[in-house]
Amino acid sequence: MNTSNARITAIGSYVPKKRLTNNDLEALVDTNDEWIVQRTGIKERRIAADNEYTSDISIKAVENLIERYQKTVDDVDMIIVCTMTPDFKTPSVAALVQAKLGIKNTGAIDLNAACAGFAYGLHVANGLVSAGLHRKVLVIGAETFSKIIDYSDRTTCILFGDGGGAVLVEYDEQQPSFIASHMGTDGILGKNLYCTDLSDSMFGEELPVNGFIAQNGREVYKWAVNTVPKGMEALMGKTELKLDEVDWFVPHSANLRIIESICSRSGLPLERAIYSLEHFGNTSAATIPLSLDKGVREGKIQRDDKLLLYGFGGGLTHAGLLINWSL
Ligand SMILES: CC(C)(COP(=O)(O)OP(=O)(O)OC[C@H]1O[C@@H](n2cnc3c(N)ncnc32)[C@H](O)[C@@H]1OP(=O)(O)O)[C@@H](O)C(=O)NCCC(=O)NCCS
Repeated sequence: MNTSNARITAIGSYVPKKRLTNNDLEALVDTNDEWIVQRTGIKERRIAADNEYTSDISIKAVENLIERYQKTVDDVDMIIVCTMTPDFKTPSVAALVQAKLGIKNTGAIDLNAACAGFAYGLHVANGLVSAGLHRKVLVIGAETFSKIIDYSDRTTCILFGDGGGAVLVEYDEQQPSFIASHMGTDGILGKNLYCTDLSDSMFGEELPVNGFIAQNGREVYKWAVNTVPKGMEALMGKTELKLDEVDWFVPHSANLRIIESICSRSGLPLERAIYSLEHFGNTSAATIPLSLDKGVREGKIQRDDKLLLYGFGGGLTHAGLLINWSL
């Protein structure tokens, strides 16, 4: 177990107004509500306006955090935006957030670990703060997947949506939030979930490329349900805690069937899982903060609850964190 001196002190979130329901998708591709709900558990997702980008969603999530917790972010000294759908290749979303919020003395970086991004972002923030390198880090998970979706591809357009969440991680040696972490990567499987417009082959294989997200859903599914339970076991092995002492499981909200399978393979009751996919779809790096905030707003997640966060996805990579909820 590593020593943490970092505490999560605030959370906020935001989703765009426009809803895209399963019935709406029936007008775009050959699919239907029953198929989508049965295979994924997703009923609708939120879609950013044409002129709404990941930085706009990030800012709104932070504004929500400030409003609810009356925390100033003027003294934030590092901004980490976890995203794979940045407004631009450069400047980073984090630099745009710095500019729009007017934070004076801060570092700013984007972190791309696809759907595992937010778990990685929290891990990095914990490391920076615990090591004494930074005092107050803003970690944002935000995506505008609608901008990289081909709405004529029924294998992907039914899954993804837009949204964002933000937390503050501050120096606190008395009540640290971070208990343990575990992560791993199977880069050789990266070809099963990609987004590029380069025609170069990946690992010597010619893959169809068009700038939109593409995936081999079956392979990603198999990898997730095999990898995550083992990762959870390794994570729990780093602590004195037992899995039945975990109050809430907050996995990446890719697909309800994946979450059900992970729960059943790990021996965790599904009732202890909190997920955001039903109304927001798979929002990649935003799913975990959206789920956390949903749990907080619904009064499920309480102070001192033990949370098991597990992100997984493109890379393929995964990251799990055991957290003592401190709000
Ligand atoms: C995408 C996913 C829902 C597809 O479910 P599946 O059970 O694997 O479905 P398959 O791709 O095998 O397709 C089964 C059939 O449904 C059809 N189908 C695919 N998408 C469809 C859709 N949106 N609506 C209706 N039918 C569809 C297929 O064409 C296929 O038809 P066929 O049997 O006549 O060939 C599932 O593989 C999945 O969730 N994978 C993980 C994806 C994911 O979470 N990615 C992000 C990870 S971070």
